[in-house]
Amino acid sequence: MSSPVIARTRVDLAAARALMPGQVAVVMTMGALHRGHVQLIDVARERGDSVLVTIFVNPLQFGAGEDLDRYPRTFGADVAICADHGVDVVFAPAVADMYPPGEAVKQRHAGGLGERLEGAHRPGHFDGVLTVVALLLELTQPDLAIFGEKDAQQLALIRRMVAEDGIPTEIVGVPTVREDDGLALSSRNRYLSDAEREVALAISRALRAGEAAAGYGADAALAAARKVLDDAPGIDLDYVELVDEQTWERPSEKTREGRILVAGRVGKTRLIDNVSVVLGTQH
Ligand code: PAF
Repeated sequence: MSSPVIARTRVDLAAARALMPGQVAVVMTMGALHRGHVQLIDVARERGDSVLVTIFVNPLQFGAGEDLDRYPRTFGADVAICADHGVDVVFAPAVADMYPPGEAVKQRHAGGLGERLEGAHRPGHFDGVLTVVALLLELTQPDLAIFGEKDAQQLALIRRMVAEDGIPTEIVGVPTVREDDGLALSSRNRYLSDAEREVALAISRALRAGEAAAGYGADAALAAARKVLDDAPGIDLDYVELVDEQTWERPSEKTREGRILVAGRVGKTRLIDNVSVVLGTQH
């Protein structure tokens, strides 16, 4: 496959974007691409006529003390993956090009849902995510934007923003890609030692236990997931919760589609994962 065009600035991007034919599908990433991203790119390839990947480690979505400085940066390998998977354009701007000094950034606010679950543990994170996603949508003008369900709360907030602002881009969610042993793929997995990786498997095990118990209702599903995590040493749990898939509130008696979400730290590495569940009636 041929190499993608690399656009390093907004001006380069505008020139490259103008030459992209048909329906344009964008995949937004922070680089350190893995098979999960490849799945998003493959969906973009299937659904769009042209594919644009953005690679930008967005400082606005990292809090103080988080891993902005040590976030993996693997640009050469990322471009090779893009080339292998038929990406037409890679937009990889510098921070100063995305947020020019002295120029006000149009800040987005994630509202109440942005302050719960991930947002409660990473204050301001989703404001930063929505700010960069809105800017990237404005700059790349895609017909479709593809996001992973691994970041389910992020996906829900992006869908909400796009609907509220009338942004004419279809948001497509793609199921999480997992290793054979269940570990959800993440750029942060590379921080895990072998022993930590073993410990981390309790997260996906907990989700499977919750899924298996979902027929007995939301309480049973959550209890089953929590039990696995309570019994697993080495995970510093931030939360395990079950929400209504539509409202992202606690499930009601009418809720049939739920999502169990887990976040915790293994060593210094913070991991998140989730699974959608169909709830039975015995709440
Ligand atoms: O999911 C991610 O990698 C990031 O949050 C995103 C959507 C690229 C915004 O920086």
